Formats: sequence, C-alpha cells, structure tokens
Amino acid sequence: MNASVQENVSAIRVVKAYVREDYEKDRFKKASKGLYDMFVKAENILTLNAPLMQLTVYSCILGISWLGAKMIVGGSLTTGEMMSLLAYCMNILMSLMMLSMIFVMVTMSTASARRIAEVLEEKSDLHNPENPVHEVADGSIRFENVDFTYKKDSEHRVLKNVNLDIHSGETIGIIGGTGSAKTSLVNLISRLYDVSAGRVLVGGRDVREYDLDSLRNQVSVVLQKNVLFSGTIYENLRWGDEHATDEECRRACRLACADEFIDKMPDGYNTYIEQGGSNVSGGQKQRLCIARALLKKPKILILDDSTSAVDTATDAKIRRAFAEEIPDTTKIIIAQRVASVAQADRIIVMDDGQVNGFGTHEELLETNEIYREVYQSQTSGGGDFDENGGGDQ
Ligand SMILES: Nc1ncnc2c1ncn2[C@@H]1O[C@H](COP(=O)(O)OP(=O)(O)OP(=O)(O)O)[C@@H](O)[C@H]1O
Ligand SMILES: [Mg+2]
Repeated sequence: MNASVQENVSAIRVVKAYVREDYEKDRFKKASKGLYDMFVKAENILTLNAPLMQLTVYSCILGISWLGAKMIVGGSLTTGEMMSLLAYCMNILMSLMMLSMIFVMVTMSTASARRIAEVLEEKSDLHNPENPVHEVADGSIRFENVDFTYKKDSEHRVLKNVNLDIHSGETIGIIGGTGSAKTSLVNLISRLYDVSAGRVLVGGRDVREYDLDSLRNQVSVVLQKNVLFSGTIYENLRWGDEHATDEECRRACRLACADEFIDKMPDGYNTYIEQGGSNVSGGQKQRLCIARALLKKPKILILDDSTSAVDTATDAKIRRAFAEEIPDTTKIIIAQRVASVAQADRIIVMDDGQVNGFGTHEELLETNEIYREVYQSQTSGGGDFDENGGGDQ
C-alpha cells in the first residue's frame, strides 16, 4: 500500500498524462483491501484468545467457589481463607492473561523487527582495502580485459573483454545504442561496482586500492538520471564542494552555461529549487548538475548523456568551455548525438558490451561501420532546428 501511494504521488504527472487516475485508484483500493483482509484474518484468530482466557478465569472462580462452599459447610475451611484463596487465584490468572497478550505482541513485533534488521544488516559488496591510497595521481584510465556482470552468478556478461587506454586530460566520447553498456562501463571507473574479471586502473593504480571516498571525490559523475535536492541553487551547487565561494559557484555555472537562465530568475542564485527539481526545466536541471559536478574539481569528469535535453548550440558551448577551462581533467562524454562527441580527442563505439571501435572521428568514419551509419543517419536528416546557433530553449 505504501509503495502504491509513494509511486502515485511522485509520478502524479505521468498518471495524469496517461489518464490512469481510475486505474491507480483501483490499484490502491486493491492494496488497501488486501491489507484490510489480512488484518481481519489476524484479528479473527486473536479474538479467540480473549474469550478462551476469560472462560478459564471464570471457570476457575466458579470451581473454587463451589469447592470452597462445600468445604466451609463441612467445616474444613473458613470464609476468610476462601476469600484469600480466591484473591490469590485471580492474581495468578490475570497475570497469565497479560502474558498471553504479550506473547501476541512479541510475535507481531518479531516479524517487523526481522524486516528492519534485514535492511540494517545488509553488507556492502564494496570494501575499502587495508591500506587505502588517498591520492589519485592523474586522470588516466586503463581497462585491462574487463568482464562485468551485475549479478555474481549470472551467465550474461554486460561487459565483455574490454581493453582501453585513456590518457590524462583527454576528451573521450562514448557512443552506442541503448543497452550497449555505456553507463555500466563508466560506473566501473568510480567503483560503483567491482569488475568480475580483469581490472580498472585510475591514475596508474587499480581502483580497488583506493579509499572509496577519495576515489569518488576525484571522479565526478553526472548521472543519466539527474537529481536535485530541495534548497537554493547555491545549496545544491555546494553538494560538489561545501566550502566553495560564491565566485567559484558562479564560475562553474558559467562553464556549464547555467548562468544565462539563473541570472534571469528573480532571486538569482538564491532561487529555491523544489523537491526533485520540479520548478526547473529538464535542460536547466542538466546544466545545474554539470555545474555541481565541476565544483568538485575532479581529475575525471563523466557526463552520462547529460546534455541530451540541452540544445546543440549550448551543448557545443559547454564542450568548448570544458576544453579551454579544465584542460587537465579527463572528460568522458556519453551521448546519443554524434555532434556531441565528434570533436572529442577519441571516440569509443560500444556495441553489446564490447568496444567496437576506438579512434578519432575521421578514423572511425573510415573504419567503423556502426559509427558511419549513425553519423549518416543523423546528418542526412538536415540536423537540429537550432543548428545555426539557436537561442536558449
Ligand atoms: N542495475 C542493473 N542490474 C542488472 N542489469 C542491469 C543494471 N543496469 C543495467 N543493466 C543491464 O546492463 C545492460 C547495459 O545497460 P547500460 O545501462 O550500461 O546501457 P547504456 O548503454 O547506458 O544504455 P542507455 O543508452 O539506454 O543509457 C542492459 O542490458 C541492462 O539491462
Ligand atoms: Mg546509460
């Protein structure tokens, strides 16, 4: 029932857009009915408890009174003695009744406690090494015969025998169809997952030798699914670096081309962002997330499809700013548009978990069939509407 409420409230626009209100109401009703039925069933069993106990208590009183009366008549018991016997028995029986109630409560709470403990005791698969390295030497990245599966015993390899050598400061584009494991590939760099075979080296060292926090501080990722938190723009930006000055925040926004729209807002950098960033557009959200990542001053910057909602002119402007202002940072740009990666130093073409091609735009156009096809299909259509430097979206 909670899942149904949570899903509906957070995705209320989708529910409305697809006119699914009645369906969702129905689903909620079903979930509530299920819960109701379960409680009624449980209470039905429990209701037996009270009458049974009371029956026992009162039969005892009746029994004692009857026996006691006979004994009083026979002269072997005084009335006072019988009264105290009754009082003792009542005390014992009442305590037994309480005990039975506690037993029910304990049974119910163990079921809940077990579920809570399951979450609390969940151990992370990724561990810090014994003597972790805290300094990342530079932004070079090497993949050596990397295999990767999401589930340990799964047969399906998401990445197959990947070998890459990326120099520090290079701009690398990654292109490939949906599900070709682009996101999975970059997730290994900041060690969000561990490889199944082979190894990933950052700054000349295996990522498993680094302290996790130090590594992730040097590898900044703008995820495919961006999240902003409720708070002002400044507060959101300072997720990247909590000590960043206002000037540094502004510079990061300039690089990410976020300054144009922030300046137009009435409260500027103090504008309040609603929960989930619902009061900024998709493209604005992406640019804020890029600015936040830049504030970390990382050695490696990964943009996972992070300019998909930004118009091509601004996209180009952001890339130019990166090349000029942060030349020492290794930049990895995942994109669906060839235009977004064409100017990169080298481009990786991913296909079904394998590296299908790795080279410059010109090299790939000549040698790589997939790249050529994607390029032709995207350029023969006449390009984007704002190809010639259109304005803000
Ligand atoms: N958390 C996960 N658990 C299990 N399998 C996953 C998980 N994430 C992705 N996969 C699988 O791994 C494969 C590669 O996914 P990945 O997200 O890397 O693709 P992608 O190239 O980034 O796609 P897209 O362009 O749509 O972002 C897919 O087949 C997907 O089903
Ligand atoms: Mg992806």
